[in-house]
Amino acid sequence: MRVDNIRMLVGNMPCVPLETDEAPGARFWIKLEGCNPSGSVKDRACLYNLDEAIAPGRPQRGQTILDASSGNMACPVAYFGRLMDYPVTVICSSKLTADKAAFIRYFGGELTMHGDLTIEGNRLCKQMADAEQGKYCFLDRLHNRANPSAHYETTAPEILADFPDVTAVVGSLGSGGTMAGRSDGGSGNGSRGPGAREGFTGTGIDASARAID
Ligand SMILES: Cc1ncc(COP(=O)(O)O)c(C=O)c1O
Repeated sequence: MRVDNIRMLVGNMPCVPLETDEAPGARFWIKLEGCNPSGSVKDRACLYNLDEAIAPGRPQRGQTILDASSGNMACPVAYFGRLMDYPVTVICSSKLTADKAAFIRYFGGELTMHGDLTIEGNRLCKQMADAEQGKYCFLDRLHNRANPSAHYETTAPEILADFPDVTAVVGSLGSGGTMAGRSDGGSGNGSRGPGAREGFTGTGIDASARAID
């Protein structure tokens, strides 16, 4: 397989059946988002946010890509920022694990630890961007439509293509972008997407989701 750009490896993740007898009569499939280049579903929204941030007409070269994360988003920001040749600074909460910190630093990201919740880091990003106008390109994915759009335009259509009769989508919440995009997206005709078919269940709710203002 030839791939011109590693970003082409983001998304289109395969699904495998989950063997379980916990819910007789139900069939579960797991979408292997961990196979994305930086190791999680966050690669999708990261690319959408980066592409929007560095679109023509926006501030570009010389700026430092900046965003807040508890860890999984910081990895692709560091990774794709490096690939796109931008310096990266990420503000991470106390939830950051050692392996993710090593990943971020390996790809040259500058890492600052701040607070226990991503929203706290987000506020610090805003202060930094305001204090040094022009220095940073703050992605602000917690308040950025490009975040759910990634799932509206990619994850949701993939789920519907593989499972036209899907009845529920289960996922986790941080900013809410993944599940919001899945819920609305994918139909291509304005009707509601796979997450909204028979209702969806969010699991593993991140404390930051409750803190987002
Ligand atoms: C592996 C993984 N999947 C899904 C999510 C949900 O992300 P969000 O709600 O920000 O789209 C997170 C949140 O941090 C995550 O780490």
